[in-house]
Amino acid sequence: MGKIFAVTSGKGGVGKSTFSVGISISLAHTKSNVLLIDMDSGLRCLDLMLEVSDKLVFDIADVLNGTELESAILSIDAVPNLNLLAASYDKNIDSEKFNQFILNTVDLYDYVILDFPAGIDLANYKNLPTDTVFITVCTPDPVSIRDASVMANKISEFSDNRRIVINKFSLKNIKNGKNANIDEIIDSSQTRLLGLVPFDENMPHLTLKQRIRPFSRTYKAYMRIARRLCGENLPLKKLSKI
Ligand SMILES: Nc1ncnc2c1ncn2[C@@H]1O[C@H](COP(=O)(O)OP(=O)(O)OP(=O)(O)O)[C@@H](O)[C@H]1O
Ligand SMILES: [Mg+2]
Repeated sequence: MGKIFAVTSGKGGVGKSTFSVGISISLAHTKSNVLLIDMDSGLRCLDLMLEVSDKLVFDIADVLNGTELESAILSIDAVPNLNLLAASYDKNIDSEKFNQFILNTVDLYDYVILDFPAGIDLANYKNLPTDTVFITVCTPDPVSIRDASVMANKISEFSDNRRIVINKFSLKNIKNGKNANIDEIIDSSQTRLLGLVPFDENMPHLTLKQRIRPFSRTYKAYMRIARRLCGENLPLKKLSKI
């Protein structure tokens, strides 16, 4: 039975798409068969991040309107076992068709990762299978923390399966008082912590090949999160080692 991870955030630009790519690559590296779906209709980006834009012909809206899934799936040469279904540039997706599609598709893969747009429009979330894990990504800045807590509240109306990821984590900024500490963020979101991803100033400029270098700090953080998502009971690393 495939498992669904829905990646969400209140505030935009916190790193959801980067995180979705990171955990998808990490899960694929565990030899799991992974489908990553870009849910950001109008503002798709994962085809660019995974460097397959030139192969993109059909998107999720086409699939919901009858195109064969196989014709729309983009396999990622640099990462065996990772497959992408792109978002549509110009068509919104129908929630009912989407939910039916997910039910038909989830068991074809070990993991399906949904990279949602920011915000609290929950139309495409509510009817996902009950064991879907909702992952809210936030950064340690006050606006992002407040928005994550609003988001977590909304998700709690229909799911207890919620986790929070703190992205762009910087111990230096906690120590000098610029960022909230981890406990404050967990308390405010009332959500279990799934993991921390360090701030990496090079992140915006990395190519796909550079992103999957196993020794980078962010890759190691994604890998630890992926292992937790696979059911491993992996403790948090010492903050100074993240
Ligand atoms: N751990 C990190 N350290 C530093 N920069 C990061 C990190 N994660 C993501 N970024 C950068 O933050 C910016 C926003 O990332 P991304 O597009 O993944 O956010 P998003 O939440 O998906 O945005 P949107 O809400 O527009 O969909 C990008 O420039 C990305 O490279
Ligand atoms: Mg995004």
